[in-house]
Amino acid sequence: METVRLSQRGAVAIATIDNPPVNALSAALRAALVETVQAIAADPKVEALVIAAAGRAFIAGADISEFGKPPVEPLLPEVLNLIEACPKPVVAAIQGVALGGGLEVALACHARLAAPAAKLGLPEIKLGIIPGAGGTQRLPRLIGAAKAFPMMLTGEPISAEKGAALGLVELVSGDLIEAAVAKAQELAAQGVPARTSEWTDKLTDADREAFEALAKDATAKSGDMPNAMALIEAVRGAFTLPFPEGLAAERALFVRLLADERSKALRYAFFAEREATHVPGIDAGVKPRPLAQAAVIGAGTMGGGIAMCFANAGIPVTLIETTQELIDKGHARVRDTYGFSVKRGSMSEAARDERMALITPAVGLAAAGNADIVVEAAFEEMGVKRQIFGELDKVMKPGAILATNTSYLDVATIAAATARPQDVVGLHFFSPANVMKLLEIVRPTGTAGDVVATALALGRKLGKVPVVVGNCFGFVGNRMLAQRTRAAERLLIAGALPHEVDAAVTGFGFKMGPFAMSDLAGGDIGWRTRKSLGTKAAVADALCEAGRFGQKTGKGYYLYPEGARTGQRDPEVEALIERISAEKGVTRRSFTSDEIVARLMDPMVNEGAGILEEGIAARPGDIDTVWLNGYNWPAWRGGPMHWADTVGLDVIVKRLEAQAAESGDATLQPAPLLRRLAAEGKGFADLKARAA
Ligand code: CAA
Repeated sequence: METVRLSQRGAVAIATIDNPPVNALSAALRAALVETVQAIAADPKVEALVIAAAGRAFIAGADISEFGKPPVEPLLPEVLNLIEACPKPVVAAIQGVALGGGLEVALACHARLAAPAAKLGLPEIKLGIIPGAGGTQRLPRLIGAAKAFPMMLTGEPISAEKGAALGLVELVSGDLIEAAVAKAQELAAQGVPARTSEWTDKLTDADREAFEALAKDATAKSGDMPNAMALIEAVRGAFTLPFPEGLAAERALFVRLLADERSKALRYAFFAEREATHVPGIDAGVKPRPLAQAAVIGAGTMGGGIAMCFANAGIPVTLIETTQELIDKGHARVRDTYGFSVKRGSMSEAARDERMALITPAVGLAAAGNADIVVEAAFEEMGVKRQIFGELDKVMKPGAILATNTSYLDVATIAAATARPQDVVGLHFFSPANVMKLLEIVRPTGTAGDVVATALALGRKLGKVPVVVGNCFGFVGNRMLAQRTRAAERLLIAGALPHEVDAAVTGFGFKMGPFAMSDLAGGDIGWRTRKSLGTKAAVADALCEAGRFGQKTGKGYYLYPEGARTGQRDPEVEALIERISAEKGVTRRSFTSDEIVARLMDPMVNEGAGILEEGIAARPGDIDTVWLNGYNWPAWRGGPMHWADTVGLDVIVKRLEAQAAESGDATLQPAPLLRRLAAEGKGFADLKARAA
C-alpha cells in the first residue's frame, strides 16, 4: 500500500500521508517521505511541497511497535534533516493529532499550519523516553526553551489555538489544504525561510534562566526518573551545543532510554491498554446500541460521580434517589464537586452550569424509564440490588441496558432478578468515579455481545479505560487486592509494623501503602465485608472493635490528631499487634523492604494466574491495565503480571512455596499456570503471545 499519495495544485505538490490507523512513522512511511522529498527537490515543475495527512491523525509519532527491534533505515532524524534541507519550501498542514515524531516532522518543515481540531504534543516522556528526532532541539529554537520544556515534561498535547499563541503553528479556520498551498506559494516566491535548526533568536539568556528554574523544579519532583533527567540534559544542549551535536546528544539519550526497563514497561502498558478494547468473542463489527439518555440509581458519592461522568461526556442523565431529602443532598454534592474544579480554575462557571443542566434529579425508579442505560449504584447488598433490578425490569424500555456498579457481588444473580439477563452487565467504576480511569465491564455468560460492545464504546466515550472481565467475586481488581490485604495482615503478625509495610509499598512506587489506604477509605468497609463472608483478620478486626476506623475517627492503623491527613505511628497499635503475634505463638522478626514487597505482591500475581486460568481475564495485559488504571500501580513497573515477568516466575514460585510452608496457608501454593510457566522457563508475556 502507498503510504504517501502525491498530487499537485499548480506548482505546489501535496504529499498526503495515509498509513492507517494513525499514520505512525513506520519504516515504510519514512522511506516514502525520503523518496517524496527527493523527487520534489529534483522536479523542475514543483516549487514547493505541502505535507498533509488523511484520517484522524496527522502523524501519531514513531511506530511504537518498532521500538526494541533492530532499527531500520532511514531513521527519523535523517528523514527530518532531509525535509529541513529541502531546497524548496515545505509546509505542514496539520489536520489532527501531531504527536512525538509527528510533531517533529512539522518542526522540520519551513512553516506549520493547523486546523482548530489539531493537537500538538511531544508525549514521549509518558513512554519513558524523550523526543528522539530533534524535538528537544527544534522546539526550543522555535518557541523558546521555557515554553518548550513544559510541553515535553508533561507530555500533554496542546490545542492548535494554544500552539498558535506560542508561535508553533498558524491557525487556519477555513480550508486547511487551500491555506497550506497559498502559504507554500508565498514561501516559494520569497525563497525558503530560515530553517528551524538555524533559529537562535528565541534562545536568549533570559530564556535559559527561565528554563534552568523549571529544570531545577523538575529535578526536585522527579529526580529518580531517568527520562526527566535526560530531557533536561537534551534541552540544555540547545543552548550549549551546535545543532548537529545537540541532535546527536539527544539521539544518544533517546537510544539509552529505549533500552531501560522502565520505558519497556510503559510501552507495554500502552499496547496492553489498547489491546484490552479488542475483546475475544466480540467481533469488531458488532454494533453498539445507541445511548442518548442515561440514569443512575443512588446519589451517594459513587452514584453522583458516575452521573458526572455522563454529564462530562455530554450525555443527559437522571440521578435517582428514594427520597427528596436524599436526592437534594446528592445533587448538591455533585454541584459542590464541580464547584471545587471552578475554584481551582480547571473549569469555567459556564462549563459547570452546562454539565449541571444535563443532570436531572428525581425520586423513584420510574424516572429511569426513558433511559437507554441505567447504572445502579445503590447499597452493596444482594437483596437490595435484586429488588432494584426487579423493579427496573418493569420500568425500563425494551433494549435498554441495565448495569450494576457492584464491586464484588455476583452479576448473574442480580441479572436473574430480571426477565432480560442478556441486557444486564456490570459497570464497575472506581472511586472517585469522575476521576479514576478504570472501568471494569463485568460480563456474566448470559450477557449479549452487543451489550458488551456498547459498554466498551460507552467506556471510551466517558474517557475511561475499559477492561472486560468475567463474573467472579471481586472480579479482577478487588479479587487480587484481597490477596494483598490478607498478605499485609500476615506481615503485621509475622513482625512488620504498619509504617514499615507502607514505606516498602510507597518505595515500590505506589502513592500510598495498604494501611494508610485503609485508614483513608475507612476500616469499617472491610470489616463489614469480612463479617458478611464470615472471615477474620485479627489486627484489622481488633482495631475496628476499638472504634478505630481510620481518618474519619481520628485513629486507625495510625493516629490523626486534629484532622491530620498523614498518620502518625501509634504505640498503642504497635503494642496491640505485638500482643496478637504473642497470642498466636509467633516469634516476631524484622523484614526488609524487598521481603515486604515480595510477600505482598507474589500472592497477587498468584491470584492473577488463577484469574487467567479461569478465563476471568482474557490476557495478562488486561490484568495489568486494571491495576495501572484503578489501583495506582506504578506505571513504570507495567502492572503486576509484567512485574512478575521481570522478577522471573521461577523466583515467584519458590517464594510462594516458602510462604505457604511458613504460614501453613495452602492458598499460597503457586497456581498450576504459574508453576507450568515457571517450569517451562516462560513468562506471562509468552502466554499473551500464544493467545494473540
Ligand atoms: N505506534 C504504533 N501504533 C500506534 C501508535 C504509535 N505511535 N499510536 C497508536 N497506535 C495504534 C494503537 O495501538 C491502536 O491499535 P489497535 O487498533 O490495534 O488497538 C490504534 O493505533 C489506534 O489507537 P487508539 O486506540 O489509541 O486511538 P485513539 O484515536 O484513541 O488515539 C492517538 C489516537 C491519540 C494517536 C493515541 O493512539 C496515542 O496517543 N498514540 C501514541 C502517541 C505517541 O506516544 N507518540 C509518540 C511516539 S514516540 C516518538 O514519536 C519518538 C520519537 O521522537 C521518534
